[in-house]
Amino acid sequence: MERQIYSSTSEEHGIAALKDSDRFIYSVGVSTGGIAEARMAKTSATRKIIATTLDREGAKFAEKQWKDAGLLDQIAIKIEDVSAPLPYPHEHFDFIYARLVLHYLPKPSLKRALEELYRILKKEGRLFVVVRSDESLEIKKNSIFDPSTGMTTYTSQGHSYSRYFHTPESIQAYLVASGFQIQHVKIYEEQLCTDFHRTLPSEQIDVLIEVLATKSF
Ligand SMILES: C[S@@+](CC[C@H](N)C(=O)[O-])C[C@H]1O[C@@H](n2cnc3c(N)ncnc32)[C@H](O)[C@@H]1O
Repeated sequence: MERQIYSSTSEEHGIAALKDSDRFIYSVGVSTGGIAEARMAKTSATRKIIATTLDREGAKFAEKQWKDAGLLDQIAIKIEDVSAPLPYPHEHFDFIYARLVLHYLPKPSLKRALEELYRILKKEGRLFVVVRSDESLEIKKNSIFDPSTGMTTYTSQGHSYSRYFHTPESIQAYLVASGFQIQHVKIYEEQLCTDFHRTLPSEQIDVLIEVLATKSF
């Protein structure tokens, strides 16, 4: 029996936010299986994408998918911490895709990361952000919130995780403090998955906050 593949509203929105003229893309926290980056590459043969992660196994897997699809001349993977100084010149990227990654960062790291992302984004460039909302059901019971870091520790399917669950106000405040201008904020439910094939749904439907921000002058 074939398993259901769950689509992702937030990924669709992120890909739709790309313009044909966007040539240099920075994808923070490579998408599971490299799916989003492959889609970005396939829609424009001259587009170059750098995807980053802290997960060496995940990096190898994504790279193998791109190699098999003949996309390695367009997409590169790097082990890179977004909250550390980034090895790119000022105003290098047209578009930064940060879906479901910035909520891994506690308060000071998030501030540092957004300052770096602002620095490496071109003028008139766009930053697409999706973070988990504090309305997510997964943290409604048995979770511990640390106000000094903003992180909430919770257990799901036998594993313990620590994430920054945002409000629309909190993520916008970080973005504006780093210089970004807010283009839109959307809040919606999405079924996230625990596997890269997107066939194993997480225990609860999530609530996500999407922000499209620009570097305008
Ligand atoms: C939920 S996963 C995939 C998110 C991905 N953007 C997507 O749309 O499917 C989160 C990814 O972010 C990466 N990550 C977590 N903390 C990071 C950090 N400080 N710097 C860079 N990547 C990070 C993880 O290694 C993982 O690859």
